[in-house]
Amino acid sequence: MCGIVGFTGAQPAAPILLDGLKKLEYRGYDSAGIAVMSEGGITVSKVTGRIANLCEKTNDGKEVPGSAGVGHTRWATHGAPTEENAHPHLSNDGRFAVVHNGIIENYIALREELIRDGYRFESETDTEVIVHLVEMYYSGSVRDALIKTTNRLRGSYALGVICSEEPGKLFAVREASPLILGVGVGENYFASDVTALVPYTRNCIYMDDGEYAELTKDSVKVFDCTGQELSKEVVRVTWDVQAAEKGGYEHFMLKEIMEQPAAIKAATAPRIKNGKVFFEEMDISAEELREIRKIVITACGSAYYAGCSGRYALEKLCRIPVEVELASELRYNNPLIDEHTLLIVISQSGETADTIAAMKECRARGAKALAVVNVVGSTIAKLADWTAYTWAGPEIAVATTKGYTTQLAVLYLLSVYFADKLGYIDDCSKYVSSLRALPRLIQHAIDMNPGAAQLAKKYHGSKSLFFIGRNTDYAVALEGALKMKEISYLHAEAYAAGELKHGTIALIEEHTPVIALCCNPAIMEKTLSNIVEVKARGAEVLALTFRDNQKILSVADDLLFIPKIDALFSAAVEIIPLQILAYYVAKENGCDIDKPKNLAKSVTVE
Ligand code: F6R
Repeated sequence: MCGIVGFTGAQPAAPILLDGLKKLEYRGYDSAGIAVMSEGGITVSKVTGRIANLCEKTNDGKEVPGSAGVGHTRWATHGAPTEENAHPHLSNDGRFAVVHNGIIENYIALREELIRDGYRFESETDTEVIVHLVEMYYSGSVRDALIKTTNRLRGSYALGVICSEEPGKLFAVREASPLILGVGVGENYFASDVTALVPYTRNCIYMDDGEYAELTKDSVKVFDCTGQELSKEVVRVTWDVQAAEKGGYEHFMLKEIMEQPAAIKAATAPRIKNGKVFFEEMDISAEELREIRKIVITACGSAYYAGCSGRYALEKLCRIPVEVELASELRYNNPLIDEHTLLIVISQSGETADTIAAMKECRARGAKALAVVNVVGSTIAKLADWTAYTWAGPEIAVATTKGYTTQLAVLYLLSVYFADKLGYIDDCSKYVSSLRALPRLIQHAIDMNPGAAQLAKKYHGSKSLFFIGRNTDYAVALEGALKMKEISYLHAEAYAAGELKHGTIALIEEHTPVIALCCNPAIMEKTLSNIVEVKARGAEVLALTFRDNQKILSVADDLLFIPKIDALFSAAVEIIPLQILAYYVAKENGCDIDKPKNLAKSVTVE
């Protein structure tokens, strides 16, 4: 989704802004632009399409002079992806330029008012009202004009603003959309995502909602909405710059698939000590746990599917009913949630708008919220009562892989941790050794499937792919089908195998590909019957199972393998061959694997 960068210092701003925008490319965008201040005023350059076009148009930034400016990647919401609609937007008098992430909900009324007052609009965007309001309210202080402007706005916004009257100064505002300030030496920055900052500085200030910032090359100041200066903590970011680069892999997605053994180790190893699981970051007591009548997990997309899988371990070990709800539905369901509900909120980015809204709704009803989040300092992490970070490192490919599996790992750890605190586990060692084995088993699952690329050649032209499974296998089938859809653009659907004969089997015909997940011994025989049913109707079956599973091996047409693992924790291993298959199918289809069409890395609008 949209990205923002800002720079002020002694060196030319444009090359740094362009570099920052490149780091944000992975979030998805369809146009981009920069605005830089010099003695001659503000120069704006905008393009549709890739940052490469902006580099070409500006001769790598050399044609946009000045040492302070802002940049933006836009993911079209209000108005088509055109140069006019791309940010930055200029005020009519040319003194202000604004970049914006988020959505201004009341922009139509504001636009009509501003047109009545004589302001000229150049774009169809909601953002443009902001720059005209700033011009209207400016009477010598940009900070005052911004406070007056934001008092008129409803919605979400991270803003970057420059004003030719105050050369070398950047202004930033945050409300329900992420914005991070980068503190350097003789130069300062802001960005909507820490990946754009780490090549330049690791010292960051995470802005909170309702805060305003002013940056010069030598100072970073943050204010509240009354103009009162705030004292903010400077946080040291530990993310590795290398981790946000491809490191020899053709795509970030493949690199991130391969990083999963290490990512799972980072999520699990520090939390396992002396044969037990510990969450030092969480001060939840056994008494508090005993007060919990139900657990509600909420999330979107793959994070929701991680919840669907994690539910089995939580329910089985903790003996607390667990509901898994799509955040976009939960918030409008008038949910039966109170102070006896533990809400588990799962999000890689920590910035997903629907998840944030559902979380706020449930907390307002009294639920305590535990966030399972990857991005440190993100909105969801800040809103939560407790946060268990997934420590996956930066995930750049839009389709999540290590983000999802580390969410699973944390849910497994939480299940054992809570159950142990509740006194339901006599001996944790059995579970702990399964959890310790996860990185090794994931590596096996990667190594066991060299045939996946070849299978992709067989299945890449399919009209539709069916993923089937039962129980824990069904939860993984949901994520497997999503991976296939989003990166290869093939129609793929997951069905609970037992449901086939209640309708869907009507769609099975000669050569329909069915991907059957058979990794849960407790219901394997049942899934086998479903395989036989679809085979009898001509389906081509690709089974995912263990190497020694003779019954499945003898009926399936093709095979993917995982090593033996406790079904309770198998999802994190089972998904690996399906990620690899989806990757190679997308490659066969010539898709833009890291940046699938129409998708964005973090969905900060509803
Ligand atoms: C799919 C994918 C999305 C995200 C979803 C939630 O590969 O990445 O479905 O899982 O948009 O995002 P987060 O986890 O950032 O809240």
